[in-house]
Amino acid sequence: LFNGLAQTPQMGWNSWNFFACNINETVIKETADALISTGLADLGYVYVNIDDCWSKETRNLKDQLVPDQKTFPSGIKALADYVHAKALKLGIYSDAGVFTCQVRPGSLYHEDEDAELFASWGVDYLKYDNCFNLGIPPKKRYPPMRDALNATERPIFYSLCEWGVDDPALWAGKVGNSWRTTDDINDSWASMTTIADLNDKWASYAGPGGWNDPDMLEVGNGGMTYNEYRAHFSIWALMKAPLLIGCDIRNMTAETLKILSNTEVIGVNQDSLGVQGRKVHASGPNSCQQVWAGPLSGNRLVVALWNRCSSAALITAEWNVLGLQSSVSVSIRDLWKHDIVAADAVSSFGTSVEPHDCAMYIFTPEMLESYSVM
Ligand code: GLA
Repeated sequence: LFNGLAQTPQMGWNSWNFFACNINETVIKETADALISTGLADLGYVYVNIDDCWSKETRNLKDQLVPDQKTFPSGIKALADYVHAKALKLGIYSDAGVFTCQVRPGSLYHEDEDAELFASWGVDYLKYDNCFNLGIPPKKRYPPMRDALNATERPIFYSLCEWGVDDPALWAGKVGNSWRTTDDINDSWASMTTIADLNDKWASYAGPGGWNDPDMLEVGNGGMTYNEYRAHFSIWALMKAPLLIGCDIRNMTAETLKILSNTEVIGVNQDSLGVQGRKVHASGPNSCQQVWAGPLSGNRLVVALWNRCSSAALITAEWNVLGLQSSVSVSIRDLWKHDIVAADAVSSFGTSVEPHDCAMYIFTPEMLESYSVM
């Protein structure tokens, strides 16, 4: 969507994956505080996004949405002021149906009033869900909220959550700043890998202004190993997915913070070229030895060697699958070791990768570099 936002994928935090409906204004404020104190905000995680369950079960007499008095007694405007004072941004949630998925009022046929209300509160981001949609196709239900948000003249990031219904990559580029390509993620290796494959199909439709959304991060929620979470984060970054943290950052482990704060991996996600990397090679049993790659600015490439097998495997990226001539000499930087691991590699690069782990590199082809200097 050409509203000036989403030049790179959105980064921040969302309440749903960890808290579900157990949210309140204290959790949101403490999360904003933690984004600052952990340094995550400085790395680009600026959206603090409240998901479902913030609102009362019914609209007020003026037909407006009302924050739940028990859990958000100070209201959403106060929260927006709180996060803005920390140079963060506030996100809210509604639904392109008559109810949200947790049966709070939805915004279908209330788009203009609700967008106006969100803007008056100082909201910066809307996640717009797909429950209780009366069987009306998403293509019809999502544009009215886009128009309503635009009419407020406040820049509000518009995140479509239509669960991949009706192949949104084909139409949502003109509607939203990101669109979900799949059903909900859960905190498991099986879910994460399945979603990565489904999202891959739509790579060519992503770019500045509008991104494929394979759903929020599960890193730190406990259902995967360190290696699996590292692979999850690496591949989401490479796929130019939104990097929306889904754990309780007030209480995360040092390992979780280490993954989420890898500046080199974040740099891949936020690269100015904005091209979604994709699976370019798969071999071994059940195609579990995979190479994912994509172009970056400055004639560089990101390359991930992803071992989805249950034992360690040697995975090799051949230059030809990366679109490089085999004689090209490449300098290779490891984004998890934070070190150059090869200075003049030619024709292929391979390494042994632990089961369910992912090695990630930036490839700088030296010949291309010298051309661009001339
Ligand atoms: C749907 C969405 C989730 C979450 C829940 C909230 O399932 O896809 O991301 O927002 O609703 O009820």
